[in-house]
Amino acid sequence: MCGIMGYIGEREAGPILVEGLRRLEYRGYDSVGVAFHEGERLSIRKGQGRLAALGSALAAAGGTARKGIGHTRWATHGRPSDENAHPHADCTGNVAVVHNGIIENYRALREGLIARGCAFRSGTDSEVLAHLIEHELVRCGGDLEKALKEALRRVEGSFAVAVMAAHERSRIVAARRGSPLIVGLGDRERFVASDIPALLPFTRDQLILGEGEVASIHGDHIEITELLNGRRVERRPERVPYTAEEAEKGGFPHFMLKEIHQQPHAIADTFAGRLAAGTLQQELGIGTDEARAIRRIDMIACGTSWHSALIGRRLFEEFAGIPASAEIASEYRYRPRPTEEGTYALAITQSGETADTIAALRATREAGARTGAICNVVGSTVAREADGVLYTRAGPEISVASTKAFTTQVTALLLMALTLGRLRGRLDPARAGQLSEALVKAPEKIAGLLGRMAAPLQALAREKANSNDFLYLGRGYGYPLALEGALKLKEISYIHAEGYPSGELKHGPIALISKGLPVVAIAPNDSLRDKVLSNLEEVKARDGTVIAVGTEGDADLASLADHAVWIPPVEPAIVPLYASLPLQLFAYFMAVERGCDVDQPRNLAKSVTVE
Ligand code: F6R
Repeated sequence: MCGIMGYIGEREAGPILVEGLRRLEYRGYDSVGVAFHEGERLSIRKGQGRLAALGSALAAAGGTARKGIGHTRWATHGRPSDENAHPHADCTGNVAVVHNGIIENYRALREGLIARGCAFRSGTDSEVLAHLIEHELVRCGGDLEKALKEALRRVEGSFAVAVMAAHERSRIVAARRGSPLIVGLGDRERFVASDIPALLPFTRDQLILGEGEVASIHGDHIEITELLNGRRVERRPERVPYTAEEAEKGGFPHFMLKEIHQQPHAIADTFAGRLAAGTLQQELGIGTDEARAIRRIDMIACGTSWHSALIGRRLFEEFAGIPASAEIASEYRYRPRPTEEGTYALAITQSGETADTIAALRATREAGARTGAICNVVGSTVAREADGVLYTRAGPEISVASTKAFTTQVTALLLMALTLGRLRGRLDPARAGQLSEALVKAPEKIAGLLGRMAAPLQALAREKANSNDFLYLGRGYGYPLALEGALKLKEISYIHAEGYPSGELKHGPIALISKGLPVVAIAPNDSLRDKVLSNLEEVKARDGTVIAVGTEGDADLASLADHAVWIPPVEPAIVPLYASLPLQLFAYFMAVERGCDVDQPRNLAKSVTVE
């Protein structure tokens, strides 16, 4: 996720771009840059770091330029650095591009462009756009809109782009597919941005560019056409009815709810371009020989990331045949343990800055293990120190309670397990294909599920808002989900909640069950479902209240449950991507009902950088 801002009009562009970018920093903030158009020249100023430090220099760099584009970056391809910051230019400096999204086929495009003599300055996927457009300009008689369309037809993946060319003084051309873009209309001035809040200080008259549309933005008018067939699109601007702060949350009342709803997109970004054989190995730096030499995987993590690790343990054992352990970093780092030849240590962390995870990773390195990381923040300490990194590409997570970090970590673990399974000959290509297909279908199905589940879960939260204790139960992939559901509830609504493997019920926690105790059961239709149902019979026999997350059409579960939320029938290994959603939403609505500070719960910090 990154933020794009553009301006063309009669005012100085510098301060406008910087103000817009400041309001887009929630989309990414590891580097920032601007390009200005004055006379027949483009000038670019950019660098690694936050806008707070660089903003005034960037604004001043524009001088009297009245046209420009800017970008605030959240790295996905290429670490945060001055070179990787946007805008990117072609070899001659005639074209400047800002991009948000992922170009899945950038490696092939890049190789082709290098063969034609292009010199690349950055390690990003986005730079290919600048070179492609410059090549197409030659073929399109210098028409920037045509050249952009031609270039984008060759691109696989998602994009929102804004482009300027030195020889085209009177317009910025922008386009989107899969990433958002808004055009703002002022008095003889036009704006373009990734999101509504960036434009609110300047205009409330905005129009949302549609999927696959291209806008030619002039100071006093815009023309919109469809990318594929060039058909003209007529769209009237609308007046934004909400405040800048509400807009930053995308119209959601809290970042947590916004991030829950971002999951379909975030999961799709995590697997984008990574399903083809070979891509993941390159990112992780594991070749066939290394993959075969792995004898065990020790995952190290804290909190929600540890719950992902518990899911990862099952995925690695089931699909790659590799014994795996999910270790709580703060315990692991102090545990005297014999080092075993062939250990692969995998740190799982959203922030990449969790002190215990960093220390545990260092300890395993010193003990001689090869290391890897699944991480969201590019260039973070863990990402820098691990031998290989698989970035989750979830975009900035602002809410203290992790949601999209969890589901994207699970997605990354599944990708890794499938890759290792194939490399080690444990997973036949047909089965790997089935699982990949189930993963590819998930984002759309999840989006539908989110829409259907919200109202009933809100009503349930209203009913249960005064309950003070909850028990969460699950088995197999459902057990880490039970832990995660309980953690979400306790951290944002301050309700006591315990997560247990349901087979453990009779070994102690059953004593907690009394009339009306809410028991949340994760009971999808997998090989352990009957066992969970037996455990629920035990709950019912003691008058507990069962809130079930099950598979559509499960009549036995329906007859046992006092309340039920249904997910579609899916591969058991993919269930966590679906079944975590009602748990997140329920915790969210409970916290709202109880008047808690959802995004910044008491006593917690987003990144735990101390021991
Ligand atoms: C819970 C939560 C925390 C983090 C934990 C690890 O919602 O966010 O439990 O998961 O502090 O953080 P990272 O993943 O950044 O290492």
